[in-house]
Amino acid sequence: MNAARPPDRPTARPQGTVRYDNTGRVVLVTGGAGGIGYAIATAFANSGATVVSADVKDPSTSEDLDGKIEFRHVDTSVESDCRSVVDHIVASHGAIDVLVNNAAIQPKESFQPIDTIEEEVWQRMIAINFGGYMRMAANVIPQMRRQGSGVVVNLASGQAHRTAREVGVYGPIKSANLMQARQWAVEYARDGIRVVSVSPGAIDTPMVRASLQEQGGEAALANRHPLGRIGRPEEIAAAVLWLSSGEATFVTGTDLEVDGGLGAFGAFADPYPLPGE
Ligand SMILES: NC(=O)c1ccc[n+]([C@@H]2O[C@H](COP(=O)([O-])OP(=O)(O)OC[C@H]3O[C@@H](n4cnc5c(N)ncnc54)[C@H](O)[C@@H]3O)[C@@H](O)[C@H]2O)c1
Repeated sequence: MNAARPPDRPTARPQGTVRYDNTGRVVLVTGGAGGIGYAIATAFANSGATVVSADVKDPSTSEDLDGKIEFRHVDTSVESDCRSVVDHIVASHGAIDVLVNNAAIQPKESFQPIDTIEEEVWQRMIAINFGGYMRMAANVIPQMRRQGSGVVVNLASGQAHRTAREVGVYGPIKSANLMQARQWAVEYARDGIRVVSVSPGAIDTPMVRASLQEQGGEAALANRHPLGRIGRPEEIAAAVLWLSSGEATFVTGTDLEVDGGLGAFGAFADPYPLPGE
């Protein structure tokens, strides 16, 4: 996807950097074997955390992380899988400090108006994209309550806030992921648990690559973002690391859009010219 992506604007000015120390923390990332989840798992592992990825597939990369991420086979639509990965982490590491609910699907067959989408397709999306988040949180929160601390981050989407044609199931569930975070935040605030959501714009991952055609093609998708490009998984990981850190202790029950300005750009606005126009 790099060809049509404008580079970040070059600048001679210092940009400022942030470094995290997650030493001793125990982090569970669902869907951590690829895409945004892998970037989040890697960022936590590289900053010292013990990281477990819960995914239905094996990691998509052979990058050597010195075994810093433990990959467990988990289907988040299956209650016994969710329970056993949580039991395993608590038995092995004695705590869970951060849960990142990230595993979700957007199958090609789901790009349909709701009167034509197959029931099997949308039920599967509900089971993973909504039910998976809830199952994982319901299994992790009792441990966080015992600890008196913890952070849950739900990956929502720009589609939690605004919509398009033919995303009648994916979009509304993303909206529910945002409200799950808000409701859980309110429910468990006095237990020392913070819950937030992150809403990415289009990010260069297998999920987006698989639906490029449905989203109007790569150049058009990039151009809809005021920054003129699709985001990188590491840019979402950076937001998740901040939100789950000790630097964000007064942040709960809210959503952070990490979207290259997509959400600020009105449907009534003149489109930016495409590169070459
Ligand atoms: N990529 C984007 O542009 C974008 C934009 C907005 C929101 N999001 C959200 O970010 C999250 C990650 O998206 P992505 O683009 O990295 O997706 P992806 O398809 O690239 O990766 C998702 C991961 O989840 C895993 N997974 C799927 N079903 C699972 C199940 N039942 N149990 C456990 N793991 C399962 C997959 O194997 C995969 O490793 C999703 O919640 C998605 O909705 C993505």
